[in-house]
Amino acid sequence: MDNFLDKLMQDKEIQTILDDQSVEAKERNAFNPPLCDEFRKPHTQLQDGNHPFFIDPEAKKQLPDMIGNKVQYIIDGDPEDIEAIQKFNKKRRIGVAFSGGPSPGGHNVIAGIFDAAKKANPESVIIGFLMGLDGVMEKEYIILNQADVDYYRNIGGFTLIKTGRAKIDSPKKIEKARQTCKDLDLDALVIIGGDDSNTNAAFLAQKLNNDGVKVIGVPKTIDGDVQVRDDNGEVLCAISFGFHSAARFYAQEISHLGSDGSSDAKYWHVCKVMGRVASHIALEAALQTHANMTLIGEDLINYVDKERLAESQKKGEIDFDAYGVSLEKLCEIVSGAIVRRARFGKNNGILIIPEGILEFINEIQTFIIKLNIVISHYNMNHEGNFHSDMPTLAEKLAYLDQISQKGGRYTIWRPQDNDLFNEIPAFFREDLLMERDNHGNFPFSLVETERVLMGLVEDYLEGLFQKGEYKIGINRAYFARTLNKGGLSPHTYGPIIFQNYNDNQNPLLMNKDIISEESLRQTLIQAGKLTETEKISPALLKILKKSIPKFTTRLHFYGYDGRGSNPTRFDCMYAYNLGYAVFSLIANDATGQMAAIKNLEKGFKHWKPIGIPLAPLMHLEERKGKLSLVMEKTVVDTESPAFKVVKRLREKWMAANESPECYRKPAPIRFTGDTEEDRPMTLLLNGSDYLKSILDQL
Ligand code: FBP
Repeated sequence: MDNFLDKLMQDKEIQTILDDQSVEAKERNAFNPPLCDEFRKPHTQLQDGNHPFFIDPEAKKQLPDMIGNKVQYIIDGDPEDIEAIQKFNKKRRIGVAFSGGPSPGGHNVIAGIFDAAKKANPESVIIGFLMGLDGVMEKEYIILNQADVDYYRNIGGFTLIKTGRAKIDSPKKIEKARQTCKDLDLDALVIIGGDDSNTNAAFLAQKLNNDGVKVIGVPKTIDGDVQVRDDNGEVLCAISFGFHSAARFYAQEISHLGSDGSSDAKYWHVCKVMGRVASHIALEAALQTHANMTLIGEDLINYVDKERLAESQKKGEIDFDAYGVSLEKLCEIVSGAIVRRARFGKNNGILIIPEGILEFINEIQTFIIKLNIVISHYNMNHEGNFHSDMPTLAEKLAYLDQISQKGGRYTIWRPQDNDLFNEIPAFFREDLLMERDNHGNFPFSLVETERVLMGLVEDYLEGLFQKGEYKIGINRAYFARTLNKGGLSPHTYGPIIFQNYNDNQNPLLMNKDIISEESLRQTLIQAGKLTETEKISPALLKILKKSIPKFTTRLHFYGYDGRGSNPTRFDCMYAYNLGYAVFSLIANDATGQMAAIKNLEKGFKHWKPIGIPLAPLMHLEERKGKLSLVMEKTVVDTESPAFKVVKRLREKWMAANESPECYRKPAPIRFTGDTEEDRPMTLLLNGSDYLKSILDQL
């Protein structure tokens, strides 16, 4: 067998066919992302910028040595400053860890750090900690060499050193990390992660400050929720790396469903896209695909039920439930779109829902927060753990039932919470009780949101069908043809069975009360067109059958696949420059900073590498049942130009009319050559001066 394989591999063509590395991967490896001007100079220096931040007093208390950090611009170094050049080029030992979920471009951050460090001093050593921050605590690492780094250039995933969701959040864990840094004689530790990981970086920078170990964060996450503005609203970091690639990947998959779905016109494709809380990916996917409907959690939370509010105001009361969206209201909104399209004969469609939508639904948000508290209280007050002590749903429900009866100590879980909770489907209750991660986050990606929502929508639609409000519109010409073929006069039967036959409208809508063969029979009898003993003509039955909607969904989850996709050209360039920015910050003695590229929204020639102070980005948030200092996630700004454009185009993309679908087909992810857009569409719109000017005039 071995002999056979050896022989097989002697042929060049076969070698290429069977190579583990595809031609595309090799081409990717060879791509050299362009660098910002500053990084093409022999060395850089830092210049403080003037960017105000609101400082949380707790951040001042807990991060005293970092709180005074300023935004630092990475600028060309002074060629005359020999001392600075020597310092910049000194031999360094830099540790790097990925933290949290993979995000396309991660390998390029490492490649950027590696190249910049080696360019400054070929003897510098880059240490890759394995499996995330666990690697830092357990001193599990590899020394990165040229061949390893080269193999993964411009390639997705975090395969090179892997990742994990550990957190260095106790004195014992910090001590272990400190010891590792000491043992490995590290000058700096780089944490490439999202909001929680950058929170970790801020605390580690504080704790390792006296040891002289610099800690630098890097804005990573496909969710796109690591964004920074100063207090004047000036954008310092428009998006995290990986967002564009993941959103682009999902958009391409979704657009294929557009082609398929509008061919057989029988399914509503429900596409859940990742984004633990924020709906940035859903917004970008909407712009990329023009799907019929995209739910944006941040928009739903602003929802006001005007009718309900007016009702309560008449009584001199305020109905707080009129604000925000309940599950029922959400079903009404989604069903509304389905019904409207059905009227134009469109029994199909594409709905995009963000994974984190549940966080924005009134009663679910309440359940999640309350259950977070119940679970963390249990864990704090018991030897064991909520999930291992009560492995089955029945046991957990019994516990909830028990504490709801107690009152007093457990006021957070009241009998009415328990009753409401027991009304939702069992699988969903089980989902809501799932184990939280190390950071206390609810595992939204594991919840079958799409199944929950569409199950409820299906019930809601059935109600609308029974009331005669959900019907498939019938094309006028088709109706005429079918009846003529069946030997019946369309003009005789049209006005009897349709609501709008005489309005000259197309398509035709069956009368509200015709929802079955029996109700059609009764209508025809009343109109004197059928006797009790006669059979309904097959032509009319054919029309009836066509008017009855068969609501069928196909559920899709776009998550891990896009997270592991190869990076777009934007992410290749962005992440590589971030790597260089990291090195510049370290080489200029910065710590407690997050490397960033300013002006991402304006295009490459405007990019400015900077360091953003982490401490001022911290604020108090509920985590594991108590207030903790964490970096704030940036959710979709419903005042942003990109969101406003999507809102204005909603009706058009819904295509609840006779017009063809507006589906857009984004090109596959590319890293070289001409690409359609050189940055996320959200950024293109948010950075457009023209759009801003016309929105200002509204
Ligand atoms: P990060 O915030 O760590 O980048 O991860 C984001 C994400 O991709 C979310 O969109 C998703 O909810 C989560 O990871 C799922 O990851 P896991 O399965 O590890 O919980």
